[in-house]
Amino acid sequence: MITCETPVYLPFSPSPAGLLCDRVSVQSIVERVGTPAYLYSARAIREAYVDIDSAFADYPHAIHYALKANSTLALLRLLRGLGSRADANSGGEIAVALRAGFAPGDIVFTGVGKTVDELRDAIARGVGTINVESSGELDRVAVLAREAGRVARVAVRVNPDIDALSHPGISTGLKTNKFGVPLQEARQLYARHRGTDSLRFVGVHIHIGSQITSAEPLAQAARSLASLAIELRDDGVTLEHVDLGGGLGISYEGRRTMTPTEYAAAVVPELRRIGLPVVLEPGRAITGHAGALVSRVVDVKRYPDGRQFAVLDAGMTELMRPALYGSFHRIVPVEPRGGVGSHWDLVGPICESSDIFGRDRVLPPVEVGDVMAVLDTGAYGAVMASNYNRRLLAPEVLVDDGQWTVIRRRQTLDDILALES
Ligand SMILES: Cc1ncc(COP(=O)(O)O)c(C=O)c1O
Repeated sequence: MITCETPVYLPFSPSPAGLLCDRVSVQSIVERVGTPAYLYSARAIREAYVDIDSAFADYPHAIHYALKANSTLALLRLLRGLGSRADANSGGEIAVALRAGFAPGDIVFTGVGKTVDELRDAIARGVGTINVESSGELDRVAVLAREAGRVARVAVRVNPDIDALSHPGISTGLKTNKFGVPLQEARQLYARHRGTDSLRFVGVHIHIGSQITSAEPLAQAARSLASLAIELRDDGVTLEHVDLGGGLGISYEGRRTMTPTEYAAAVVPELRRIGLPVVLEPGRAITGHAGALVSRVVDVKRYPDGRQFAVLDAGMTELMRPALYGSFHRIVPVEPRGGVGSHWDLVGPICESSDIFGRDRVLPPVEVGDVMAVLDTGAYGAVMASNYNRRLLAPEVLVDDGQWTVIRRRQTLDDILALES
């Protein structure tokens, strides 16, 4: 049984007929699309979105789904249909959001290291808010907007020096991190650009990290945000919103974790002090549980000391998180064999020893040809894939209401070589 102590909808469930995604047999999809492949449940995405939206129902809010978590067009269209807006982290993500039908005004442009071309383009398109990361970037936006004869809508991203209590690789709110402007400097920045006609300060922004599973750091972030907004109001700056970023974590192990309701309960009292609408930028919490990476066992190896390896046809090229952060994902056989369970290391085919999806996992007997599902890979899975070892990007499939559709075909070698002379 695949369970999660937090009451979320988990789309992948075992059945006598093998693993199901919603009501659809995973094996039947695999037989048609091959492996590796990413499968997503539309229902899980809808439910996760609605859970967050409902949790904030009593406070004015806008959900800007963070495209960086997964920006496949079909998923973006699904989210737009639910009322989501977009958080884009690059010029490419802005372009994809627009193609998915998001209005420019419904996009926040976040991210450290925006290029002049990206900024110029965002200003020309009339992006809703540019979340600026530094005093230099703010100056550049001011000049570019003036040159374009436009007024850029900006928010300053502050770095509150708060420990998100997440993995160091995805914590962004400490003063040792490259993100944002120190809290003490933010007020001066707003003051310095008071009379700049090409800028309109519409918000303040904070994002302290990802996969945050305790409420306190997020409450602290909301407190910092509200306090700064109050100070700016006292300084005569009229803001339209505060942007709390993303970060709400999910349970990868099945243990209880913070729910959207608990998240809202922690931050809304802080936000009420300023009363401005809040922008939320969730990514993982919307698409994470919705996806699984399915992969075939291509080899089985047994060492004399008893260690057993199942070598999969997916690796760090399809799912980088375990190699990058040592992250945990549950792995289940799609059609479990009968027999006694034993310990397995599930590894990828890449020439890197960090290419491991799971160590010492207890699984029923495993044989070459079996298909495994690596769960909770809907966020930061396909988007972080690479062509290392000249491997081809895997297809993506969306399951919706008993039907499934390939929403991104498998890449071909010709797709890649088309870029080369
Ligand atoms: C600025 C910003 N907003 C939103 C997100 C989305 O975070 P998450 O997927 O943890 O909700 C990120 C990701 O790190 C981010 O950098």
